[in-house]
Amino acid sequence: MLQIGIIGTGWFSRTHADLLVQTQDVRLTAVLGTSQEKADQLASAYPDARGYDSLRRMLDAGRLDAVYVCVPPMSHGDIERELIQRGIPFLVEKPLGVDLELPLELAEAIRSRNLITSVGYHFRYKATLDRMKAELEGQTIAMAVGEWSGGMPQVSWWRRQEGSGGQFIEQTTHIVDLLRYTAGEVEEVYAAYANRVVHTQFEGVTVPDVGSVTLKLASGAVASLTNTCALPSGVGRTGLRLYTSGGLLDWTPDRLEVTGTNRLEQVVDEANPYAAETDAFLHALRTGDTSRIRSDYADALRTQQVTYAALQSAASGQPVKIERL
Ligand SMILES: NC(=O)c1ccc[n+]([C@@H]2O[C@H](COP(=O)([O-])OP(=O)(O)OC[C@H]3O[C@@H](n4cnc5c(N)ncnc54)[C@H](O)[C@@H]3O)[C@@H](O)[C@H]2O)c1
Repeated sequence: MLQIGIIGTGWFSRTHADLLVQTQDVRLTAVLGTSQEKADQLASAYPDARGYDSLRRMLDAGRLDAVYVCVPPMSHGDIERELIQRGIPFLVEKPLGVDLELPLELAEAIRSRNLITSVGYHFRYKATLDRMKAELEGQTIAMAVGEWSGGMPQVSWWRRQEGSGGQFIEQTTHIVDLLRYTAGEVEEVYAAYANRVVHTQFEGVTVPDVGSVTLKLASGAVASLTNTCALPSGVGRTGLRLYTSGGLLDWTPDRLEVTGTNRLEQVVDEANPYAAETDAFLHALRTGDTSRIRSDYADALRTQQVTYAALQSAASGQPVKIERL
């Protein structure tokens, strides 16, 4: 029986908790919040869970085989340090932080402890990504075009640059991750960001609400990724298109469209990728076999490196080279 703890009491903690309690031979035993009240409130929804307002007390209270870290980007650091020091494996939600310095430090500590980790890049677990990779075999990727557009998430930390890191680090990170997963590593980025709409609608907005990022890939391919959070609620799109010698691969979260000469095929995948992500992590905890985990901390670090480089480029107006980690 695996005993799991969850850190954070927001939307995404619930999503993971709901999946964990439906899983055989798993008990959700501990929930950590920023207050006892918030922790107790979430814990009360699950039969074996107890709420805590102190990480140390939670970890001292009983064995945890792993912890799910579901806190906002600015809250990373002490949590992971304590888990690493105690040798407790963890699944951490993306992004790894608001900058690169902290993730670099944590990645080194994780590597030296050889700790099992998984990072919440759930789209990698979709069957459409397996299909995309299969379609790419023998093809040359010429170019990629991706986007993340929508309204501004209404959690207070998201609109502050030091809270979320901004949209490219917080949301578009998923598209950067899929670009790396399908088309390979990024070597250079150049970004232009601006504040157009959202700061006129809401108080205290310090994140840009539009961004356009050009990326050069190690393969020689080029990519263009855009994002905006300036759209009205409920409007937007998310996706990645690859232009290859074999045709066009047009991916959106529930569908892949494959177009070639005299060929058009739609692949629909509505399976829950969070369930597959959790299965892979739990399998690694039970067996030590980490091969089903599609993004661990060391891998996610490279995505963070690209999204943070884009922020630096937008600030300086200069292209930023990505050093191979
Ligand atoms: N992979 C995905 O599809 C996906 C989807 C949604 C959110 N997320 C990620 O999950 C993370 C959390 O998002 P959310 O929507 O649940 O946000 P949220 O604001 O709803 O919840 C965050 C929770 O973390 C708690 N918290 C903050 N600092 C803490 C600390 N030091 N210790 C304990 N608790 C702390 C807050 O009190 C809050 O309950 C974000 O990084 C977000 O990007 C991922």
